[in-house]
Amino acid sequence: MSISPRSTRYTKKKRKRSLNFSSSSSVRNELDPERMPKHVAIIMDGNGRWARKRLLNRINGHEKGAEAVRTVVRTARKLNIPVLTLYAFSTENWQRPQPEVSGLMLLLRRFLESEHKTLVENEIRLHAIGQIDRLPKAVRDKLNAVMNATADNTRMVLNLALSYGARTEIVDMVKRIAQSVQKGTLDPAAVTAETVAENLYTCGMPDPDLLIRTSGEMRISNFLLWQIAYSEIFFTPTLWPDFGEDEFVEILTAYQSRERRFGAIP
Ligand code: IPE
Ligand code: IPE
Ligand code: MG
Repeated sequence: MSISPRSTRYTKKKRKRSLNFSSSSSVRNELDPERMPKHVAIIMDGNGRWARKRLLNRINGHEKGAEAVRTVVRTARKLNIPVLTLYAFSTENWQRPQPEVSGLMLLLRRFLESEHKTLVENEIRLHAIGQIDRLPKAVRDKLNAVMNATADNTRMVLNLALSYGARTEIVDMVKRIAQSVQKGTLDPAAVTAETVAENLYTCGMPDPDLLIRTSGEMRISNFLLWQIAYSEIFFTPTLWPDFGEDEFVEILTAYQSRERRFGAIP
């Protein structure tokens, strides 16, 4: 299935104060630089179906998906989005057949190797959330090397969710808070929403303003359960390997046309 990237699937509204966004693929779109989301989170789904439709191996779908990751990182950086979180591998994904898990780990390592220089040059800081100690040593080593090499970068944070599950994150948060209470450094009566946020893997990051899920599935699949309390959510039928700059800009434009009320009356 292919959908014209030029179609106005999400919105037809235009904003007055706008940034004339011109990309390599000659997309022009109007975005207000002052209303860009501070944090975009993406559930990158549909690699397997993309491959199956072409009678290819699922790993070929993941390879193509890695190219879409490069495009989206480049676009987010161009648009000055401060934090981009990508759901690359869930705690539940360990249940997949061993060859697929190994293939994904190899692709992850290759991605880190190939993007190392680009991240440094573009002043992007790499960060990871999830059970990093469960990743194979070769991946962990490369991840740590790139995180160290980019630690002082301030233009954007690329936050990779690897062996990530929101329920595990919440369990870990509860354990940390309980330990502080046990040590006597935290009064249970003083626990607030901030205490919770500070003890999640995303400590110090703003909550996602925008959450995108590709592949047409309308579920969250254990992603950032606490943090997405007030995120604007977009589901698109596009399979992740087909997700590109045009559609990303289109969703951002639609995001800017939404009224965020946070329960109040505007
Ligand atoms: C998303 O694509 C990538 C990962 C979960 C690692 P899938 O592999 O889930 O693709 P589908 O959902 O089977 O099409
Ligand atoms: C969610 O996709 C996880 C990632 C994109 C990494 P899944 O394909 O694993 O989720 P379900 O199984 O459709 O819920
Ligand atoms: Mg999937």
